[in-house]
Amino acid sequence: MSTSRTSMHGEWSGRFAFILAATGSAVGLGNIWKFPYITGENGGGAFVLIYLICIACIGIPIMMAEVMLGRRGRQSPINAMRDLAEEADASKYWKYLGWSGVIAGLLILSYYSVIAGWALAYVFRTASGVFTDVTGDGARSLFGQFIADPEKLLAWHTLFMVITMTVVARGVKGGLEKAVRFLMPTLLVILIILLGYAMNLGEFSRGAEFLFNPDFSKISAAGVLTAMGHAFFTLSLGMGAIMVYGSYLPRKVSIAKTSIIIALMDTLVALVAGLIIFPIVFANGLEPGSGPGLIFQTLPIAFGHMPGGTFFGTLFFILLVFAAWTSSISLIEPAVAWLVENRGHTRIYASVVMGVVTWMLGLLTVLSFNLWSDFKPLSSISIFENSTMFDLLDYLTANIMLPIGGLLIAVFVGWIMKREITMAELDIHNPIHKGYRVWQILVKYVAPVAVVIVFLKATGIFDIATVFKAIFG
Ligand code: TRP
Repeated sequence: MSTSRTSMHGEWSGRFAFILAATGSAVGLGNIWKFPYITGENGGGAFVLIYLICIACIGIPIMMAEVMLGRRGRQSPINAMRDLAEEADASKYWKYLGWSGVIAGLLILSYYSVIAGWALAYVFRTASGVFTDVTGDGARSLFGQFIADPEKLLAWHTLFMVITMTVVARGVKGGLEKAVRFLMPTLLVILIILLGYAMNLGEFSRGAEFLFNPDFSKISAAGVLTAMGHAFFTLSLGMGAIMVYGSYLPRKVSIAKTSIIIALMDTLVALVAGLIIFPIVFANGLEPGSGPGLIFQTLPIAFGHMPGGTFFGTLFFILLVFAAWTSSISLIEPAVAWLVENRGHTRIYASVVMGVVTWMLGLLTVLSFNLWSDFKPLSSISIFENSTMFDLLDYLTANIMLPIGGLLIAVFVGWIMKREITMAELDIHNPIHKGYRVWQILVKYVAPVAVVIVFLKATGIFDIATVFKAIFG
């Protein structure tokens, strides 16, 4: 395979465009919606610390690996893995890694779109002023009424899928680059305004302590798996999204530096979101562990009480929708790119097909919050006792498919790809280069071993919580 090959879908205009697009993929509902609620459910500080360790030791090295596979393969993940395996004289079964990524992306987008639909609905609700002076109970009951109505959820989910697929059909570059360029800075500004509000609540230090003061008695093995799974989820790793974006990356751009920048920005947004949400939770007597509705029950209180709240609140939810939208595009791009490459379909046709499939899968999530809220298909297994279809989809993708995908990516890049190739991709000419060696240790040993141990422990075979407790007290 020639290294001068370029992707048939086009290329980013440069390093900055790739950083924007990959950050657009990484920063999304995972940071602002999911991170706070799973942190709340898993007791705070210890969970956050484990999450941060996973980002640094597993997430960043695997992100580098995934970008590298994409840039080297220059195609959709399925075809890239097929050719790269051939190039490395490895088994042709590696292409199934591409397949499992495509499926994970569709499954994730199916519920992601429903939640993005909530954010879309909240743009209009906030703008209409319903949250002015709202109390904690009021915000909770407004949210409860909303998700109890399957027709509303379906309508917003449908609208969000249509918006997403419109962009995907046009190709991910032009529009996406422009949108993210304006989105990221504005999102940061509004988060900082909200942070200012949270800092004046009186419960700020309690919120910060909840986030940053680790108490290892509060975290379970299942919590460690959730933290690790979320590191993959929030960085968009393990299913080929970053690989497909990497395939549009010009040569010359430093994979290491860009990966670190993306991970830092993503983490910053998540931590700031946490610092906004938890002071509001404590100041209003809400429950940190109240689940997927957490931000929809807390932020309206802030918007209902702060000066200019209607304006800032509306803007916030608009930005959240944008952030979700730039992430959604990357969830479905591997599937669409594959249909275009292998079946010769136009982008428009491929987008419609994949969009309809995902939209239908989304019905499972829509119904999980109302008509089917008592349908718990795996309740005979103790960890899934209370899991709705939405919970199961989330668990299957974030806690199982992404870590396994990431593990296989690490194994492929660490053990199967030729060393000359990884060195060339990282632009390293000396095999004892320090950074290169650290990265090698992380992808070859640390990341795979960590994923396996956390899995074994979450299934009860090996007790890592005792190890953590022994080290951190
Ligand atoms: N990272 C995004 C978020 O945090 C979601 C996302 C986009 C994603 N693409 C992905 C998650 C690929 C896993 C895999 O909101």
